[in-house]
Amino acid sequence: MNGRIRRMEKSDVGEVVELEALSYGEHHWSKESFYNELENNLAHYYCAENENKKIIGYTGCWHIFDEAHITTLSVHPDFRKQGVAQSLLFAVIDDCYKAKIKYITLEVRESNVPAISLYEKNGFKSIGTRKNYYQDNNENALIMFTENIWYEKFKLRYNELHKQQEAKSEHKTA
Ligand SMILES: CC(C)(COP(=O)(O)OP(=O)(O)OC[C@H]1O[C@@H](n2cnc3c(N)ncnc32)[C@H](O)[C@@H]1OP(=O)(O)O)[C@@H](O)C(=O)NCCC(=O)NCCS
Repeated sequence: MNGRIRRMEKSDVGEVVELEALSYGEHHWSKESFYNELENNLAHYYCAENENKKIIGYTGCWHIFDEAHITTLSVHPDFRKQGVAQSLLFAVIDDCYKAKIKYITLEVRESNVPAISLYEKNGFKSIGTRKNYYQDNNENALIMFTENIWYEKFKLRYNELHKQQEAKSEHKTA
């Protein structure tokens, strides 16, 4: 992606909620939810911004003991398929290494092919479902987990994905 990943600030919340509505329609998180998250000591939130400082994606997770739980991840529809979600996920994983986290988990709608592909590419595996987890349409959630992120296999994949992402952006700017 072109741009950078940085910590989410309270001043970002208005823009983030606009983006949230584009991704999730009427069932999106409120400003209040994001303000609460930014005051939660367990929470780590990041934004992706482009060269014009427009927020084009965001994500967040909670660090609880040796586990991180990804709570949200979204990319502006006009900026999808450009590696933005991948860069956001790298930021989450980098922070997990710094915090000595071992496992990363999340829930995802079982029909959400783009997100499931992204997570599988990053080494997440489905370990079960939560029935009727999403209240808007009673859709099931897949529960996805990484293996221990300190295992060589996970680190190798992670380094390989980093290299691929760098090669893509070099290709773009060449
Ligand atoms: C899921 C989402 C975050 C992906 O964002 P993105 O920036 O387009 O993803 P990236 O460009 O970083 O793609 C990385 C990988 O994700 C997967 N992926 C992304 N979009 C995909 C699509 N439309 N179909 C299939 N796989 C897809 C691919 O594995 C891709 O790797 P590749 O480019 O080598 O094929 C985005 O589609 C989105 O915001 N959706 C709405 C919100 C949402 O569903 N969030 C997830 C909640 S759990």
